[in-house]
Amino acid sequence: MMLQTESVRMGYGERTVVRELTLEIPQGGFSVIVGPNGCGKSTVLRTLGRMLRPQAGRVLIDARDIRSLRTREVARRIGLLPQSPHAPDGVTVADLVGRGRYPHQRIWRQWSREDERIVAQSLEEVGLLDCADRAVSELSGGQRQRAWIAMALAQQTPILLLDEPTTYLDIAHQISVLDLCSTLHEQGRTLVMVLHDLNMAARYATHVIAMRDGGIIRQGRPEDVFTETMLRDVFDLDASILKDPNNGRPLIVPKDRRNQ
Ligand SMILES: Nc1ncnc2c1ncn2[C@@H]1O[C@H](COP(=O)(O)OP(=O)(O)OP(=O)(O)O)[C@@H](O)[C@H]1O
Ligand SMILES: [Mg+2]
Repeated sequence: MMLQTESVRMGYGERTVVRELTLEIPQGGFSVIVGPNGCGKSTVLRTLGRMLRPQAGRVLIDARDIRSLRTREVARRIGLLPQSPHAPDGVTVADLVGRGRYPHQRIWRQWSREDERIVAQSLEEVGLLDCADRAVSELSGGQRQRAWIAMALAQQTPILLLDEPTTYLDIAHQISVLDLCSTLHEQGRTLVMVLHDLNMAARYATHVIAMRDGGIIRQGRPEDVFTETMLRDVFDLDASILKDPNNGRPLIVPKDRRNQ
């Protein structure tokens, strides 16, 4: 399933954030968008997931304008985890994750054993099976974030868009969520994720998209994108690039500006 944009202008009301974006998301790739706060990463992700209507241009899925598809058809193809999702009061973890199954249900085929199994499996994958009956509002920030990830997993879409899925997670849960995403990628799903942790991006991505001020500055393999020049151009950051001894991926070490 191919996802691409054609000269898309994005923004809110009168305001334009992304002037013109033509982008092809590598099919079956693990793409990671990086860039400073406010550069338009979430705006791009929302537009790809049809949460935001382009001001101009088109988003195409398998060469069809995404606007020509019904909501349910989009939801069966694209799962989107927004940056700060809100659950209605009183919703339990199992209810929330179960919502990921709605696009798969029909009036004559209500909630099934299969749905039940997929909800339990998704909770298990994020380590939240024990919390299934708790209210989402009573979870810790990291547990809540994992509940939302489970909901996106339960949707079982070929394309997953995840906006900062690891922000509230401790380091072990970050790794476990990203390992899980990596397994999904190996199984053939297309992932697009926004991450602030450049070392995690370098470690997991097959394709990195570096943005600044609403435009793409560079994209490609992590070893080609993460250079000292790019870090200066995109983040105004002085950093050294080392090689991760475990996997050969770039390791970004910001220079210490104190005592200089
Ligand atoms: N709902 C909105 N209405 C108006 N302007 C918005 C809205 N959401 C975002 N913006 C503006 O669009 C620009 C890009 O925002 P966006 O959320 O895409 O940035 P981002 O790269 O995801 O940043 P961050 O790393 O902080 O999440 C910002 O200037 C922001 O103020
Ligand atoms: Mg954002």
